[in-house]
Amino acid sequence: MAGEWILTLTAQTPTNIAVIKYWGKRDESLILPVNDSISVTLDPGHLCTTTTVAVSPAFEQDRMWLNGKEISLSGDRFQSCLREIRARATDVENKEKGIKISKKDWEKLHLHISSFNNFPTAAGLASSAAGLACLVFALGKLMNVREDHSQLSAIARQGSGSACRSLYGGFVKWIMGKEENGSDSLAVQLADEKHWDELVIIIAVVSSRQKETSSTSGMRESVETSLLLQHRAKEVVPKRILKMEEAIQNRDFASFAALACADSNQFHAVCLDTSPPIFYMNDTSHRIINCVEKWNRSEEAPQVAYTFDAGPNAVLIARNRKAASLLIQRLLYYFPPNPETDMNSYVLGDKSILKDAG
Ligand code: ADP
Ligand code: DP6
Ligand code: CO
Repeated sequence: MAGEWILTLTAQTPTNIAVIKYWGKRDESLILPVNDSISVTLDPGHLCTTTTVAVSPAFEQDRMWLNGKEISLSGDRFQSCLREIRARATDVENKEKGIKISKKDWEKLHLHISSFNNFPTAAGLASSAAGLACLVFALGKLMNVREDHSQLSAIARQGSGSACRSLYGGFVKWIMGKEENGSDSLAVQLADEKHWDELVIIIAVVSSRQKETSSTSGMRESVETSLLLQHRAKEVVPKRILKMEEAIQNRDFASFAALACADSNQFHAVCLDTSPPIFYMNDTSHRIINCVEKWNRSEEAPQVAYTFDAGPNAVLIARNRKAASLLIQRLLYYFPPNPETDMNSYVLGDKSILKDAG
């Protein structure tokens, strides 16, 4: 590996939005959750992270830049991911550049990492999910790690819990697992991206500001103080997971919407049940919920499901393109985008309905 050379690799990973939420850890350092969760991974390209990883004998230390600004890699989470990936590195040969890196070399070589999110960071749109999944995936490719996606998901989990679900497309379940060492706490794909491709996801970016309480500290406070969280994890979520899996398998939108909306509302109720209470949603979020609930009730069957992560931004899932186009009309009428007030912008989570909405 002598000489001056640089080897780079770029990867792109979409974010995922939970429809049955993860909120609470039973082990903080391994990031083991108190319940299973289910998410939908957005289409690549819409809301995603792009990460370039580079290795060179000229690098003197591991360094990382996020959205153009250098950040520290010294935190336990980044260190866990780097350690786990390095431990699985294998020989790499690039004949074109005349580079040979042996398994042993990887222990001494340093990395430079540059990552960009094409959507607001730390604003409740799961940037930690796309970001850490992309980091683990890119490093795994660079170092020729021969693990399958499930094993990589268990590594990404140690960077940010929700990240384990972004290794797969479509509908994904994070199995909480039973083992104390976390070896069985990983993601599996429930259905691929083609399984239910009528659905259209629209994201209302109510605010792109960074949230005051990070997901990590918010859920720690909930675990310490909320009785509702205990009840939710033991009694509510296990049943909901089974019903949600069934709804996804059968493409049963009425059940899917009822479960997703109820679960989002219970997650925010847990935040309110936390002491001191955490307010992730704001007045606009509440008005969006009202608008969707009223519309769904005025139709024979629900048209749109809503879910809110740890922030005020709404993720709206329309049952088909027709419902999505009506939804956009309503949103633009009731919540016109105006970055100065209470609606920043709209982003399409998947499939372009703008060309041929029916
Ligand atoms: P979000 O709701 O956006 O997931 P979190 O509070 O869970 O917010 O996590 C935000 C943190 O995730 C950021 O402060 C940063 O540490 C990390 N993060 C976000 N994007 C990336 C990225 N592309 N690469 C590495 N880490 C990232
Ligand atoms: C509300 O995965 O961001 O988005 O594991 O501490 O990094 P850490 O937290 P994070 O929490 C996500 C919480 C959520 C729900 C979900 O994605 O399931
Ligand atoms: Co997050």
